Amino acid sequence: MTDLESLRGEFIRRFAAQPSFYHAPGRVNLMGDHTDYNAGFVMPAAIQFRTTVAAAPRRDQRLRVHSTNFDETVELSLVGARERRGGQATHWVDYVAGVAQALRDYGVAMHGADLLIHGEVPLGSGLSSSAALEVAVALALSTLAGRQLEPLTLALLCQRAENEYVGNRCGIMDQFASACGRAGHALWIDCRSLDMRLVPLQQHFASVRLVICNTMVRHQLAGGEYNRRREECEQGVRVLAAQMPGIEALRDLTPELLQAHRNELDPLIYRRCRHIVTENARVCDAAVALQAADLDGFGALMRESHQSLRDDYEVSCDELDLMVRLAGQVPGVYGARMTGGGFGGCTVNLVQSSAVPRFSAKVADGYAQATGHRPEIYVCEAVDGAAAVVFQ
Ligand code: GLA
Repeated sequence: MTDLESLRGEFIRRFAAQPSFYHAPGRVNLMGDHTDYNAGFVMPAAIQFRTTVAAAPRRDQRLRVHSTNFDETVELSLVGARERRGGQATHWVDYVAGVAQALRDYGVAMHGADLLIHGEVPLGSGLSSSAALEVAVALALSTLAGRQLEPLTLALLCQRAENEYVGNRCGIMDQFASACGRAGHALWIDCRSLDMRLVPLQQHFASVRLVICNTMVRHQLAGGEYNRRREECEQGVRVLAAQMPGIEALRDLTPELLQAHRNELDPLIYRRCRHIVTENARVCDAAVALQAADLDGFGALMRESHQSLRDDYEVSCDELDLMVRLAGQVPGVYGARMTGGGFGGCTVNLVQSSAVPRFSAKVADGYAQATGHRPEIYVCEAVDGAAAVVFQ
């Protein structure tokens, strides 16, 4: 838990004003990776790691922003065109500036503000620290401007900030989960219609837990490869749409239809498409399995999903594959898969509650021995999405 009292103390020392507080969580994705930007299905849950923003209005049109994680203060002007600070590499303040711009473009009458940002989502771990930052800042700035935006609107504005300003062509999943998460539930999201259904998790938590294993590695190629996968999917859609009018996204294909058109596609593009099409089916099957408390069935879908991400979509890496293999060797594990964009970051594991201590010890030791990195292991709690924090 974030210590709000000490954040408040720091805010007053730095900015000589009383702040209000806002926070937004990271997420873990249980099923459906790289499907969101193909108008498909995903099943994330918001998790207990949050980014907290303490904020107070200013009289001018400036943002003064301090990050406790980077121990750095940056000032931005809200008037005129803004340049990205990061150049090629993204700088944390690019997310803040992008959100401010997206809010302004949406017609929010922005004030200047002092912001103190404190993130507890492990950075670069694939648990959406950037979405948590964006959504928490968007909630803070829109509230200070006197606007109450719907959670879904906040999510869409934050996605736009990341797409258009930061230059990462991410889908909607992370911002959606951070803004709309529900305690004790995963969210089944249709990324075309943006409909959401709640999938209860709490009822299973007596017998099983979702455990996240952090490989502690992040490979540099992640950003470029992500955008390249999107282009490969778009290429597949272009070829298939020429044969089958009405195909607008890979979401519109069944595995059978894709198989029937296999010869029209370059083999690599075919594999990319096969991942998306089978993964969409797995999200729907996984929701049914969870509702029916079919944990073996859910675990089998997790294993298939990992294989598909590894072999067809090629977004896994040695460390993630090792982590999944180690998990598979521990009794009491139903299934394991990488979660999120890939190329490092975390796996998510469905583990019998009584087996969690043994699981954590075995996986941590095996991973540390093989790689020299001590992994972090977190037992997941599904929490509510972004909210103003009432100071007790
Ligand atoms: C990143 C993106 C999401 C999604 C995942 C992969 O987290 O931000 O939109 O595409 O990768 O599922």
